[in-house]
Amino acid sequence: MPGLVIVGAQWGDEGKGKITDLLAERADAIVRFQGGNNAGHTIVRGGETWKLHLMPSGILHPGKLCVIGNGVVIDPKILTDELDDLRRRSVDTSALKISANAHLIMPYHMLLDDAGEVKLGKLQIGTTRRGIGPCYADKAARLGIRVQDLLDEKILKKKIVAAMEPKRLSLREYARDPRLDLQSMTEEYLTYGHRIKQYIADTSRLVLERLDEDDLVVFEGAQGTLLDIDHGTYPFVTSSNPIAGSATIGAGVGPKDIDEVWGITKAYSTRVGAGPFPTELLGPLGDELRDRGAEVGTTTGRPRRVGWLDLVALRYATRLNSLTSLAITKLDVLSGQKTLSVATSYRGPEGLEIDHFPYHQTVLHHSVGHYEELPGWDEDISECRSEDELPENARNYLQYISDFVKVPIALISVGPSRDQVIWTRAGEATYAAGARAAAQP
Ligand code: GDP
Ligand code: IMO
Ligand code: MG
Repeated sequence: MPGLVIVGAQWGDEGKGKITDLLAERADAIVRFQGGNNAGHTIVRGGETWKLHLMPSGILHPGKLCVIGNGVVIDPKILTDELDDLRRRSVDTSALKISANAHLIMPYHMLLDDAGEVKLGKLQIGTTRRGIGPCYADKAARLGIRVQDLLDEKILKKKIVAAMEPKRLSLREYARDPRLDLQSMTEEYLTYGHRIKQYIADTSRLVLERLDEDDLVVFEGAQGTLLDIDHGTYPFVTSSNPIAGSATIGAGVGPKDIDEVWGITKAYSTRVGAGPFPTELLGPLGDELRDRGAEVGTTTGRPRRVGWLDLVALRYATRLNSLTSLAITKLDVLSGQKTLSVATSYRGPEGLEIDHFPYHQTVLHHSVGHYEELPGWDEDISECRSEDELPENARNYLQYISDFVKVPIALISVGPSRDQVIWTRAGEATYAAGARAAAQP
């Protein structure tokens, strides 16, 4: 006690980075537990912007334990580049710890990700092409290379040979590609090992120690619930489990170590890449919200697809993650809309009325939002710092969401910057409770 998990309650990019950075202020440790550098978490503070891909979003708090857990897949080039960039910007990274058991993204994983997408043609998933899927596939096939393998040249080389052997056929067009040369690949990865050696640790033990001390540990999810490989819109998903239960596996703690789960959701919806999106707005309104919300992918620079808030999906995410609180981001983006639509059910094939998230791919693909319309507001709310300062219709909009999913809202975000937040009374209560427990001797 107390462990607090932050998860994306939609398709990713909900603002997890911003919320994690905020909570990190009162936390003692911040832990990433899944995903890799497909993630792009943005923090804006003091006019400066940070785009983190692998680094936990607590790294801007000097001296706080920041952990890259065993469930994360690490591209060591991105990791070392990110470390260099942080140091260049005078960020102290000495409290970073990297799990010795985390798996490594290898050059062949990126090539396979690329080749897989090209082969799928029109049916492609729209992955970030960062090698995430092939790396997790190797982990499951027990052909993965782990962080600890970087410290032993003989083992590293042997494992690379074993991992590449069954991929020969699919990699044959890259047979002469210098990135796949065994000797140079081994040398390059040994160099990374040398560079990150000081950070490698038994991170599960470190986190468990903190929990035993009653410290506040924030587990930072990447991606979002609907990109979950088991519960999301398969096959248009990522290759890990971004839901809260995954924090135990990806950080090496027990289910009882999780006390609170915060679901981060935008006040509307976005999605990057292909796949079903029942509330998608394809016309000028979608373009307007995309512009107002600066909806461009942090990692790949792709424009995000935009839609109305999907309460069917949010209720599904609430249950799957055992959400105890919601943080609603980007409420400011909705200012100026006369009415706001929220999907409270779907209409499926042949007008079928659907009030739950469909498990069947075909039904989901043919589902479109069935909406309730709520009155909007005109005021610029980006300077509001308390619930009372929000226009009444904005408060009603939030209340409607909270009532629908039966979860209190802890925090409302009204702009990208760190200070553009409103703590609700419920938020202050749970947050303060966590912080109080953490402060106890
Ligand atoms: P993450 O992947 O969940 O951490 O989210 P991203 O960082 O990929 O995307 C969220 C984007 O929205 C970032 O550019 C943030 O700076 C920005 N952002 C976060 N909260 C707000 C907000 O309340 N209002 C506005 N306008 N932008 C926000
Ligand atoms: P954060 O942590 C939004 C999407 C990709 C693609 C699918 C599979 O910033 O919220 P992958 O490369 O993981 O195999 O791609 O998942 N995707 C994300 N979308 N935010 C993310 O991370 C994402 N990470 C992966 O666009 O549709
Ligand atoms: Mg993102």
